Amino acid sequence: MAHTVGIKEVARAAGVSVGTVSNVINRPHMVAEETRERVQSTIARLGYVRSESARQLRAGQSRIIALLVLDMGNPFFVDVATGAERVARADKLGVMLCNSAESSAEEADYLSLFAEQRVRGVLLTPADMSGRNLTEFRRHGIPFVFVDRVLPSAEGCSVSVDDVRGGTLAVRHLLDQGHPEVAYVSGPMSLKQCRDREEGARAALADAGLPAGALRHIEADRLDVASGRDAGARLLGLAPRPTAVFCANDLLALGVLQALFAAGVRVPEEMAIVGYDDIEFAAAAAVPLTSVRQPAVRMGQQAAELLLEETGEDAARHRHQRIVFEPELIVRESSLAARR
Ligand code: RIB
Repeated sequence: MAHTVGIKEVARAAGVSVGTVSNVINRPHMVAEETRERVQSTIARLGYVRSESARQLRAGQSRIIALLVLDMGNPFFVDVATGAERVARADKLGVMLCNSAESSAEEADYLSLFAEQRVRGVLLTPADMSGRNLTEFRRHGIPFVFVDRVLPSAEGCSVSVDDVRGGTLAVRHLLDQGHPEVAYVSGPMSLKQCRDREEGARAALADAGLPAGALRHIEADRLDVASGRDAGARLLGLAPRPTAVFCANDLLALGVLQALFAAGVRVPEEMAIVGYDDIEFAAAAAVPLTSVRQPAVRMGQQAAELLLEETGEDAARHRHQRIVFEPELIVRESSLAARR
């Protein structure tokens, strides 16, 4: 019969009393952060489960890790999933891919499912930026790693990109092409990525000695193609109309491109465009899209590696890391000044 882990074994492995283990599970706010994290890592590593019936059911640690993305329709997250899946498979684990559709309620439902299934760990791009969903989930002692978007109060590992730097690369490139002002099409500014990319854009203006008004901001409802088309129509209505636009991701840029084509506006001759993510469709667009590349596949790999380290044999020695990748500007036809 498979060995079942008891609370005493957890306490011994974590170097605390049984009462402390019980507090970590039932009253985590009563336990110091470092102790709480160590006990939670030990719970996950040993595969301890609270209820006797669940303990009977578990033969060992789950071989499934969960990946909860914001938008399954965004190729950026497909690339993240590709990287994570390759690392998981190498460890003979499977990935349960779920989509929160940027909904806090759907995120909470999936986190409950992951807890019921006692998955080994969770990779997630949080939809609920308040942290309430994760505070509840943390009680189950299942480790998680943030991908792309990090909760400020986060205790877990994270993998993201320096989006401020990314915004600067995009707008500096457009200014270098001779554009006196740039439109910035963002997603909801409640999203940290959109704010950081704007911050970088404004830094490029300041470096060039241009006033803040040289960045014309259009806030789209969502970071998708349809919202890009709407934003493109608003861009065309600006007077005077800028001759360059930086979009907070490639889906928005592809939507803007569609709106400009429909209006007979030539790209890049009459409007230069830069996107963000460098998804596969960027290079394949009708006018190959200049984009700020996020190493999405590598981000997925790195996040999975951190999670497997935190739940593996040496979990007790794991220390949380925040890994930030550098963005890279990939220049294509959509932003190059007309050949003089
Ligand atoms: O969450 C949507 C966007 O944020 C993606 O396109 C990627 O840019 C991520 O950082």
